[in-house]
Amino acid sequence: STSIEPLVIATRSQTGKVAIMTLNRPKALNALSSPLFTQLNAALESADNDESVRAIVITGGDKVFAAGADIKEMKDITFSEAYKNNFLGTWSKISTIRKPIVGAVAGYALGGGCELALMTDILLCTPTATFSQPEITLGIIPGGGGTQRLVSLIGKHRAMDMVLTSRKVPGKLAGEWGLVSRVVEEGESVVAEAVKVAETVAGYGAIAVQAGKEAVNAALDLPLDQGLRFERRLFQTLFATADQKEGMAAFGEKRKPTWGDK
Ligand code: CAA
Repeated sequence: STSIEPLVIATRSQTGKVAIMTLNRPKALNALSSPLFTQLNAALESADNDESVRAIVITGGDKVFAAGADIKEMKDITFSEAYKNNFLGTWSKISTIRKPIVGAVAGYALGGGCELALMTDILLCTPTATFSQPEITLGIIPGGGGTQRLVSLIGKHRAMDMVLTSRKVPGKLAGEWGLVSRVVEEGESVVAEAVKVAETVAGYGAIAVQAGKEAVNAALDLPLDQGLRFERRLFQTLFATADQKEGMAAFGEKRKPTWGDK
């Protein structure tokens, strides 16, 4: 057939406020090939620049979120090629997105799939999802941020356990460890729940939401004194917004605020 299936399907929630991105390479278990990442990055960038989008959901299939980087694509590349072409460098694009990203994981989130999930801002999974970094079984290590992000999320010892033994972490345990934000009930749709969470965020003023995301992310990069100063300064700047005046006036008048994103 000559029709080309998109590797990432972009849709909207019923309200139109949430852009939903569904990884769509089912025959390869959503292996994250370069073309797939190019499409995901383009969809993310377009959503970030579209005023009608207030939050983003990234999900995969019912049985597989993503089974990792594409092993067939990378098996023959040389060090020189990987280094020259900054292999996996494009994966960092997600961390430049200003709008909140909610991840919805059902089934396997392996290797790069686990790392992609870790790059989201709020992460939901099913109790039977499987998080794992099996790179060690392939003679490599995680290259999409896993070693760094896991340590800050679950601590050194659990991160080492995942990275060095390829241990499979079920969704329920991932919830107990704080690898995810929420574990949905068995039988509940993780995408539907993720959209609900995204709609909640989408209902708040976009400037405060952007600032909240920026401040939390700063904690991962900055020493505490600088992080606290960054947070306080950002907090202070919000008093220059109409949304702060509106939010606090509405509280006093016992009514719902109307955000103008200004
Ligand atoms: N890359 C490329 N193709 C993949 C893939 C991957 N990561 N994972 C699965 N596939 C392909 C399989 O090769 C197979 O293709 P064919 O039908 O052409 O043979 C198809 O998807 C279905 O897979 P299986 O037949 O293996 O399905 P299964 O149900 O028996 O097993 C699985 C499922 C346990 C997830 C198994 O596919 C698996 O172990 N996959 C690899 C997981 C992995 O090692 N991921 C880490 C990749 S490295 C990485 O991600 C580096 C990084 O840090 C960025």
